[in-house]
Amino acid sequence: MRDVLTIAMPKGRIFEEAAQLLREAGYELPPEFDDSRKLIIEVERESLRFILAKPMDVPTYVEHGVADLGIAGKDTMLEEERDVYEVLDLHISDCYLAVAGLPYPDVNDVAPKVATKYPAVASKYFREQGEQVEIIKLNGSIELAPLIGLADRIVDIVSTGRTLRENGLVELEHIQAITSRLIVNPVSYRLKDKRIDEMVERLSLVVGGTSDD
Ligand code: PRP
Repeated sequence: MRDVLTIAMPKGRIFEEAAQLLREAGYELPPEFDDSRKLIIEVERESLRFILAKPMDVPTYVEHGVADLGIAGKDTMLEEERDVYEVLDLHISDCYLAVAGLPYPDVNDVAPKVATKYPAVASKYFREQGEQVEIIKLNGSIELAPLIGLADRIVDIVSTGRTLRENGLVELEHIQAITSRLIVNPVSYRLKDKRIDEMVERLSLVVGGTSDD
């Protein structure tokens, strides 16, 4: 019998692209996969089990070994620095991290306030720029912060740029390109190496290349 592989999938906007990629790699996923409120989906014919997690939590499931593999945004990986292997750039969910703000901000002499879902990434970025800032952690709708005076700037994901535009904000600095990555638990990689290698190979044939940064 084949080892069952457990894969942590990100719910939400990455999910559809990730599922499509698995199908292109030849994994037969049932229709319920796309339209279900189930949080655990078994695909017996492929010896796969999927757990559907919040995108930011995917590395947690993989690091703790309850999922052998996961699909996680590079943004999450940069923020959390988990003990997992990042084995393949899936080249999906293309977006980037940027600093944004109002086009004509009030000049602030003291450390400007920066609102973000990514406090570690933002702190590191401004430290490297030699700029002192105060980081304010939010969990979503980051673009609100400069509009209502909570922060001077934000560090957030930009995909189409629509959220910035529709809220009258402008991009000030480009920080880093982001795509989703296939991540693997190190112990699983030892114990289930054949099945994991096979999945990495099948997916890399679809996406091309390996993880490069
Ligand atoms: C993300 C991100 C931006 C938006 C960018 O938020 O934080 O707000 O998408 O996309 P765009 O450039 O295409 O407009 P998400 O929708 O994940 O929700 P959140 O605000 O709850 O984080």
